[in-house]
Amino acid sequence: MYQKKVSLFKKVLWGHITVISIALLILSTLLTVILEKVFYMNEVRELRKIGVPLAQQTNDLKPVDSKFIERLDQLLRYNHIYLMIVDQNNQPIFAGKKELAFLPMLKDVFQQNKHGKVVEGQSDWGKRTITWIMVPRGSGESKGAIILFSPVQGMLQALRRTQVVIWIVAGIALVVSSVISRWFSTHLVQRIQRLRALTKEIHQGNFQTRIKVKEEGADEITALALDFNQMAEHLSQTHEELNRFEQNRRQFIMDLSHELRTPLTSIRGWIEALQKDYIPQSDRMRVYQSMKKEIERLIRLIYELMDLEKIRSGKIELKKETHYIRDLFELVIDQLDWMAEEKGIALNMELPEEDELVIYGDYDRLLQVLVNLVKNGIQFTDQGEVRMGAKQEKDQTLIWVRDTGVGLDQEALKHIWERFFKVDPSRARYGGETGLGLAIVKQLVEAHGGQIEVESQPGAGSTFYLRFPLSPANHISVQVLS
Ligand SMILES: Nc1ncnc2c1ncn2[C@@H]1O[C@H](COP(=O)(O)OP(=O)(O)OP(=O)(O)O)[C@@H](O)[C@H]1O
Ligand SMILES: [Mg+2]
Repeated sequence: MYQKKVSLFKKVLWGHITVISIALLILSTLLTVILEKVFYMNEVRELRKIGVPLAQQTNDLKPVDSKFIERLDQLLRYNHIYLMIVDQNNQPIFAGKKELAFLPMLKDVFQQNKHGKVVEGQSDWGKRTITWIMVPRGSGESKGAIILFSPVQGMLQALRRTQVVIWIVAGIALVVSSVISRWFSTHLVQRIQRLRALTKEIHQGNFQTRIKVKEEGADEITALALDFNQMAEHLSQTHEELNRFEQNRRQFIMDLSHELRTPLTSIRGWIEALQKDYIPQSDRMRVYQSMKKEIERLIRLIYELMDLEKIRSGKIELKKETHYIRDLFELVIDQLDWMAEEKGIALNMELPEEDELVIYGDYDRLLQVLVNLVKNGIQFTDQGEVRMGAKQEKDQTLIWVRDTGVGLDQEALKHIWERFFKVDPSRARYGGETGLGLAIVKQLVEAHGGQIEVESQPGAGSTFYLRFPLSPANHISVQVLS
């Protein structure tokens, strides 16, 4: 039995939450880095705005106008910006105590300043981070530089605040997406569980179960459910077919046993009576005759069964050719006239005078079909006639065998094509009936691509109608005439 370790629900849920968390983490990190960069650029731009014009000013005012610088310094300090001016030897001309301490950090930068470039950067100063800018005074040969710097503290605070907002938004997004993900996972798992339940039902033999499928918004699971329903339908049909097949098999064995038992029991009885000398000499010939008849009946039964099976499984080869129907009818009359005569009934045929009708099929098998039907007609008719007829219909040949016999009721008509079916099982004349005749006839007609129907009423006789397709080439030429 399958043991679930981690449910699909948890897997899907945790999968979603992990993806969402990673996405949020990447997003917030990216945002932080970008914001830091933006803040830094802003700060540098601010320092540049002050530093570049001041460098020109102080360049023009040679020597430096200390009063103006002091006032400016005060103004800048108020805005957390600190000013320092150095000469061409990088010696401070103007600087507070605090600013002087920053000077050693710029030693490397002074090197670049010689080439008259504006240099900017960020450095750690004690516990603080400082954004600074150094603007050369004068062009060409350096005449010193203006240095402006500003602690990034204010900027960091703004960044932290932004980060907090990002984390709050990320948290809310995570909660909301977890709720949605939970709903989605539950929904998904429920649908899969419905599929499992169906499989279980089928496993338990309930082939009628189906999953209700909503076609709108169909996805892969809907497709799977539809496939399941189709599979269940297919299984149900196969199951029904198997049941029918099994029932047929049992019925067949029962019918066959019955058919075999009756003649075998009679034969055994006669043999015992002969052994014990119960039968007088004068009757013995009659008993031998009866035994022979029963044995012939058994042999016929076996041959007919084999034949039926051969036709059913499509193992017979039909030598289809075009034949005159008149010839076939005449041969049937030749074969069965004696039987009709014996019963005192007429055996006739009716064909259109002017037209020589033809039929396309296997001669021997067509004869077998007609002989079976006419023989039945004679067997089940006590007075009147049995008549064969034919006519050409649009694209088929119609043949009928009509009798004025006992006819068949509705119930018998339902079963007439079944193996071993007999309205009256006790009737056994002219070699003994096996109840296979009409089953063979139907199979043979169908093997020719034709159809057979019967119309009958009790006491009003029966008519069997047979329809055969014309030859494929639809030609009416006659190839074989006997
Ligand atoms: N023309 C008919 N009129 C009345 N009943 C018929 C007619 N043809 C067939 N039946 C009924 O249908 C049953 C089945 O006929 P089918 O020809 O298959 O078997 P059978 O004649 O009994 O035996 P078999 O033909 O194998 O010797 C017959 O036993 C009979 O009851
Ligand atoms: Mg028959």
